[in-house]
Amino acid sequence: MSHSSGTPIANAEPSADRAHPQEGTLAIRIEGLCRGFGSGANRLEVLKAVHFEARFGDITMLIGPSGCGKTTLLSIIAGTLSPDAGEGRLEVLGQNLRAMSQGALTAMRAKQIGFIFQSFHLIHTLSCAENVAIPLLIQGVGHGRAIRQARDILDRVGLAEKSFQRPTLLSGGQQQRVAIARALVHEPKLILCDEPTAALDARNGALIMELFGGIVREPDRSLIIVTHDNRIFGHADRIASMDDGRIVELHDMDEQHPLPEHLRHGFHQ
Ligand SMILES: Nc1ncnc2c1ncn2[C@@H]1O[C@H](COP(=O)(O)OP(=O)(O)O)[C@@H](O)[C@H]1O
Ligand SMILES: [Mg+2]
Repeated sequence: MSHSSGTPIANAEPSADRAHPQEGTLAIRIEGLCRGFGSGANRLEVLKAVHFEARFGDITMLIGPSGCGKTTLLSIIAGTLSPDAGEGRLEVLGQNLRAMSQGALTAMRAKQIGFIFQSFHLIHTLSCAENVAIPLLIQGVGHGRAIRQARDILDRVGLAEKSFQRPTLLSGGQQQRVAIARALVHEPKLILCDEPTAALDARNGALIMELFGGIVREPDRSLIIVTHDNRIFGHADRIASMDDGRIVELHDMDEQHPLPEHLRHGFHQ
């Protein structure tokens, strides 16, 4: 995919020219995928032969106006939503999701993918540490060890002292950090976030991005953040701009190529 600064890339081919630790390897490769909802006169085409890619070692932000298909695309990457039958390539962490059985998909999701949803999906009857331990428990890690690892990562997000409290006693920003700890505790290769800072004030938003920068920016990991929050665009390695079911621009962020004016404004939902 062309990644010269600000080049429109409507369904362009991926390019191989990238200076990166795992040069040439892509965490996500999507080509020509479609997804619609409903049928007949009520049919709504949401993803229109979309092309998208994400590299290992990158924070890729997926931006675009409300309703353009960002959450739909993220759900397909997560394997929780299927694309329409037909053509199109859907490779995640080197696997062709379209050819995978439901069981294999579930196993891969549990082990290799971390999710951070806009609404945190924390279980209110469990302590913060138990919430964070869930991905480990699903993988069969013993309870004691899972809780120890959960406490370690809660410490990294600055919430060690909240480990044994219920999440309902925490502020919104703290709950979001618990959700982030839960998404990272099993060291997934791919982390998917849908609007992780939307509910946060500027200070907590910046804190969370620092956290991502430290924990996630490793050569064998890839982080995708759906956002319309222009306060955090500066933390991206790459910005994929989506409109009406397609990625219309892929912008690599570096000193020579700061964010162009037309992408700087963000989107009001
Ligand atoms: N399960 C669904 N059934 C019907 N329409 C849906 C469904 N999910 C999303 N849509 C529609 O698809 C479009 C894109 O939605 P979405 O991917 O959530 O956009 P975004 O995350 O960019 O705001 C919207 O018009 C939305 O109403
Ligand atoms: Mg959305």
